[in-house]
Amino acid sequence: LTSSKLQGKSVMITAGGTIERIDPVRYITNDSSGKMGFAIAEAARDYGAKVTLIAGQTQVEPPEGVEVIRVESTQDMYDAVMSRFDNMDIIVKAAAVSDYRPAVRADQKIKKTTDRMTIELVKNPDILQELGARKNGQFLIGFAAETHDVAAFAQDKLRRKQCDLLVANDVSRDDAGFGSNNNEVQIYDADGLVESIPLSTKHSIAHRILDIAYERLPLEVDE
Ligand code: PMT
Repeated sequence: LTSSKLQGKSVMITAGGTIERIDPVRYITNDSSGKMGFAIAEAARDYGAKVTLIAGQTQVEPPEGVEVIRVESTQDMYDAVMSRFDNMDIIVKAAAVSDYRPAVRADQKIKKTTDRMTIELVKNPDILQELGARKNGQFLIGFAAETHDVAAFAQDKLRRKQCDLLVANDVSRDDAGFGSNNNEVQIYDADGLVESIPLSTKHSIAHRILDIAYERLPLEVDE
């Protein structure tokens, strides 16, 4: 599955889960292993692209032959993505991003004192939404992790976040989504469903996502 389809293109992919610190020893995160984003990075590399991988917490190692930038929080990921956005042709947001972070990060370990405690959360920036609002010719691919009404939520995300493609997966399943080597996805564009991919390896889904993006890239005109 090697080709020169994306030769000369710069592709940025986010993968893994973000970490939001509560105190020096505790944090909020999610089950993203990084496998989906890493598979896309590998596929983009094998299609000849220059790949930048912005990775949060992951359970597997990133592929060889791509630039890897490690980040922790959603804000870190936002900064890393935004500072590189202008130079990219394709951006794929496969990371599982925390929508909220603790309003205060305690400097010292929080002690067990009361029977109940509340951690106040504040909203994080939405990286994908910001990219959609700012894009200037870049091809933007978002993901939607849903547990119900997948099609409706996915199409709503595509419109609100101004994505060129949106890859929806049902993360309530054990055999797909978070952590698994496999996934089952539906790919949407602004006109509706483009393709529904049955349970397959993340590796093959990654290639299909990039194939569909490739067909939709603006034609290069020699001057
Ligand atoms: O890493 P794996 O174990 O292989 O699992 C893969 C996966 C299930 C994590 C992946 O396939 C996936 O669905 N990634 C998106 C997870 C997610 O954050 O979904 P969401 O529906 O909450 O967000 C929608 C989109 O907005 C995503 O592209 C997300 O990266 C982006 N987002 C969300 C919140 C935020 N503050 N900023 C964002 O950019």
